[in-house]
Amino acid sequence: MFAIWPDIRMSEHKIKIPAGEAGAYKITVGTEILGSVWPQIETDFGRYNKFVVTDENLVSAGHLEKLLDSREVPAFVISPPGETSKHINTVISIIEAMEKAYLGRDTLVVGIGGGTVGDIAGFAASVFKRGVPVVHIPTTTVAQADSAIGGKTGVDSSMSKNAFGAFRHPAAVYIDVATLATLDERQYRAGLVESVKHALIADSDYFDFIENNLDGILERKTEVLERIAHLNCKIKGVVVETDPGERNLRRILNYGHTVGHAVEAAGKYELLHGEAVAIGIIAAGLIEIEMKLAEHARLDRIRTILEKLGLPVKLPKDLTENSLIDIIKHDKKAVNKWPRFVLLTRIGQVYSRGGQWAVEVERLIVEKVLRNLQE
Ligand SMILES: NC(=O)c1ccc[n+]([C@@H]2O[C@H](COP(=O)([O-])OP(=O)(O)OC[C@H]3O[C@@H](n4cnc5c(N)ncnc54)[C@H](O)[C@@H]3O)[C@@H](O)[C@H]2O)c1
Ligand SMILES: [Zn+2]
Repeated sequence: MFAIWPDIRMSEHKIKIPAGEAGAYKITVGTEILGSVWPQIETDFGRYNKFVVTDENLVSAGHLEKLLDSREVPAFVISPPGETSKHINTVISIIEAMEKAYLGRDTLVVGIGGGTVGDIAGFAASVFKRGVPVVHIPTTTVAQADSAIGGKTGVDSSMSKNAFGAFRHPAAVYIDVATLATLDERQYRAGLVESVKHALIADSDYFDFIENNLDGILERKTEVLERIAHLNCKIKGVVVETDPGERNLRRILNYGHTVGHAVEAAGKYELLHGEAVAIGIIAAGLIEIEMKLAEHARLDRIRTILEKLGLPVKLPKDLTENSLIDIIKHDKKAVNKWPRFVLLTRIGQVYSRGGQWAVEVERLIVEKVLRNLQE
């Protein structure tokens, strides 16, 4: 399935976005490939001037230096790193820095970092001079599994998350799983939830692989991480190719996210996204049991994996059922103030009803499940 390059340990995926978009883009996966990424970018995008977007932690971890190898490339280093900088003001500063560097429409933006950097870099690229291409080099478990693939970009307003956004499919993605070695343990574990989610919605063999390789995953063994990166690209790639504009199938990627987002917001973002989604995945499993789509044994398997990854599987004590219901009603995908839920018929298979992948669930069931999650 994957073309392995014999000389360097790189291998590729292609994501074909339908005509009218940027065309097929390549995802390269490997270990310790950062040093050979820039020559590859020069080969593939030689006619473009390059502009790098990154954050301070990528600089201090030495990843930017490995990528650029003393090349003089104009760059914007986001400070402070993390969500507080994922604001429209940062995009303004980046665009002005690009102008000061005399860059024009023949610019390629290269984002190296986590989802924050990727979302900011992708959005800046989508609006600079009415749009220039972007290349992602994701360096977190979230970014490698999720944000770098799929073309969603965005930054926050002072009112809400991702208030400004655009679809901007990358021109290429380079995943070096060795960069994960320097990621903070909590961030590392929380980000793995997106991989568990991919396995749950699309591939029971992948789920078995995670179950059987938890030690390797926690030890950040690169051969295990490469396999995971490939499977994530394959699964998210197929979903994104089929539904690039998020009309129906793409909703399956939202598994565990309806309750997850509510837990994240109700907890005032003290839980990391992946931690909140872990609770959301348990909520989805409990709903499946209530709706006779699952037996307890299936949820027990999932819970065991999440617990071994050190993730929460119960609501924090201070979150009440009512506060969550209130937020759930404001879910951006809600219809008549009630969201749709993505559910599983079995591990690797999403439940669909009437051709829809996100389905209505009775309010009483959701309330009962939220109460169960508190105990
Ligand atoms: N566009 C999408 O489809 C999509 C999908 C999921 C998440 N997101 C967005 O992604 C953001 C979260 O991304 P994230 O979880 O990657 O967090 P992040 O980008 O904020 O990174 C977390 C922290 O780790 C640091 N870091 C990154 N890589 C590192 C490395 N290799 N070594 C050491 N430190 C490193 C960062 O500087 C930051 O402090 C959110 O804003 C979310 O909305 C977008
Ligand atoms: Zn998510």
